[in-house]
Amino acid sequence: MNKYISVLLFSLCTSGLVAQTNLPVYLDETKNIEERVEDALSRMTLEEKVDMIHAQSKFSTKGCPRLGIPEIWMSDGPHGVRMEFAWDRWEYAEWTNDSCTAFPALTCLAATFNPELSREYGKAIGEEARYRKKDVLLGPGVNIYRIPLNGRNFEYMGEDPYLASRMVVPYIQGVQSNGVSACLKHFALNNQETARERVNVEVSERALREIYLPAFKAGVEEGKVWSVMGSYNKFRGQYCSHHKYLIQDILKGEWQFDGVLMSDWGSIHDTREAAMYGLDIEMGTGTDGLTQNTSSAYRNYYLADPYLKQLQQGKLPMTSLDDKVRRVLRLCFRTNMDRERPYGSFATQEHADVARRIAEEGIVLLKNEKSFFPIVRGKYKKIAVIGQNAVRPLTVGGGSSELKVKKEVSPLEGLQSVYGEGNIVFSMGYTSGPNNFHPQLPPVSASDSLRQAAVQLAKEADMVLFFGGLNKDQGQDCESADRQSYELPYGQDQLIQEILKVNKNTAVIIISGNAVSMPWIKDVPTVLQSWYLGSEAGNATARVISGDVNPSGKLPFSIPVKLEDNGAYSFGKASYPGDESMTAHYKEDILVGYRWHDTKKIPALFPFGHGLSYTQFSYGKLSSDKKIYQEKDTIRLSMKVTNKGTVDGAETVQIYVGQSHPSVLRPKKELKAFKKVFLSSGETKDIVFTIPVKNLAFYDEKAKDWVVEPDRFTFFCGASSVDIRDSVSADVE
Ligand code: GLC
Repeated sequence: MNKYISVLLFSLCTSGLVAQTNLPVYLDETKNIEERVEDALSRMTLEEKVDMIHAQSKFSTKGCPRLGIPEIWMSDGPHGVRMEFAWDRWEYAEWTNDSCTAFPALTCLAATFNPELSREYGKAIGEEARYRKKDVLLGPGVNIYRIPLNGRNFEYMGEDPYLASRMVVPYIQGVQSNGVSACLKHFALNNQETARERVNVEVSERALREIYLPAFKAGVEEGKVWSVMGSYNKFRGQYCSHHKYLIQDILKGEWQFDGVLMSDWGSIHDTREAAMYGLDIEMGTGTDGLTQNTSSAYRNYYLADPYLKQLQQGKLPMTSLDDKVRRVLRLCFRTNMDRERPYGSFATQEHADVARRIAEEGIVLLKNEKSFFPIVRGKYKKIAVIGQNAVRPLTVGGGSSELKVKKEVSPLEGLQSVYGEGNIVFSMGYTSGPNNFHPQLPPVSASDSLRQAAVQLAKEADMVLFFGGLNKDQGQDCESADRQSYELPYGQDQLIQEILKVNKNTAVIIISGNAVSMPWIKDVPTVLQSWYLGSEAGNATARVISGDVNPSGKLPFSIPVKLEDNGAYSFGKASYPGDESMTAHYKEDILVGYRWHDTKKIPALFPFGHGLSYTQFSYGKLSSDKKIYQEKDTIRLSMKVTNKGTVDGAETVQIYVGQSHPSVLRPKKELKAFKKVFLSSGETKDIVFTIPVKNLAFYDEKAKDWVVEPDRFTFFCGASSVDIRDSVSADVE
């Protein structure tokens, strides 16, 4: 071989361009992940394996330093990348480079009914997590909205399993496109915060399968989520974070989940169960904050020394450990050992724009008499903005989803920039009282004077924008406690009534993650259901109110007139929050949300799927491609929608399905398809829905399987679960 070629080969090898043959398989990116997993596993000692499956700090696991397998770093949460934590204390690390973009709460994302926006959401938040060197983003949460008091509903995607399933898949895919793992939580049945760490849920297999599991199933089977977080609560007497049926049989068995099942922080209670029932990473045990006040207690973890000892004594099988370590290694190869993954970006204008567009599309126009909205610029000289939620930062508090943001535009600021500061006057109107997040807020003792000042201001104004609702204080929309009443807090109802007495031109903007009672609804011409909108809250809100944006959100949950009209609540304490033994019997069973309101004929004040626009849409005739279907068929429904109004807008057309003569109780209607269509003024579009016949099934507890009964099915197309515009029937043979 002449010397030139040998020089070339030598330089290629030394330059690393040619795959060095001496690379161990687990480091060789030309090998497939499973080969690399097996090779890495074969090189690890027993102690190194055990080190991989539990925390080493508040938000990280150890990895394997000797083999160069990195630590796994995790961060909350579903709405943005949380500020850096101290190594082993529930305190912040006071970094100065971790102020993030706050995206809207997931309930707002669900209200957009726009899966493509969900993908953008996931990609953007994943870029921020990647930039912050986090390998796992601890979200999204998809626990079903069972009761309007649950402190964490704002972190989830509403009351309907189909909506949550369609919206969660693209979010996961968006996050993971960055080489960051999403973490689907809290698996499962974590539908209340009251006594969350010990409540035992009893629910029928059918309701489990039809209501509470579908969004998790979609996240795993379609979203290909790389990690799942077990919940604190029990199900049928066993803790969900090490639950044989939920994890081994369903998640890892039926659904073939190949990722990591991690605990919630402090949700583990037993070494043998954790070893044998599918827990792969133990987090948050025995550290100050959530559980025992023991700092750096990592050797005491259930899956640390106690597990190691039982393995060494042969009391627990090595296979239980190897399966966990395989899954953790797989997570590493998908994230921090993938050299090809992107680099991410952080707190950019692009991310702020994504946050703003989601907020704009999620705001729901509940009521708008005499086109009171939009308030076009110049229409009024003096606009009174009243209410603490017009100025209160809502990205802090709320529990583990709290954020430290680069910016948060308040509704007042947004309105001032749209209408001009000279046309806006503000009065706080009510107060929650100061707390450590908001030391500057007026004390509750000032309530009377705040209310009187606001009413006076309303009297002198041309129109009033009232910003109320809930907030992220403990006992409101916040982790670890539920709200204790359905009413608006801090005397808001009285304040609204008094404002209406002096100024009929009053609109109410509710900011919350839960339904609230609205005793003043008949006297208020316009109501917006708004959300925790994040960094761009004020800009999105002002653009909707001014008509720069035409609202297109639809309610992801029902708003009952009164709490007793909610299914779960109507069965009393044993149903929610639980009986003396802290067992919560889900007695409403499959009739959650609109399924309850429809079937029990208890109209909601505002129904699931409801949302108005500044324009009007007319629906054409709904038709099906066949009159008779076989079980293997896919149903094809088509119709036209026209924008009859003068402004462009978007409408989410929903398809609900009802079986005529089921052998078991079935809801009158169940959401089985939806499509958001954007229409210019005067434009008509054809819409086609495809529904596999198998999606019409119910879960048969005797057959332990999904069953489609030969019967007549009716397909309802609607602008909400109540506003049905047309229907068509067909038979399934
Ligand atoms: C909290 C939450 C969970 C969060 C975790 C880490 O208790 O339940 O959603 O991701 O602990 O903060």
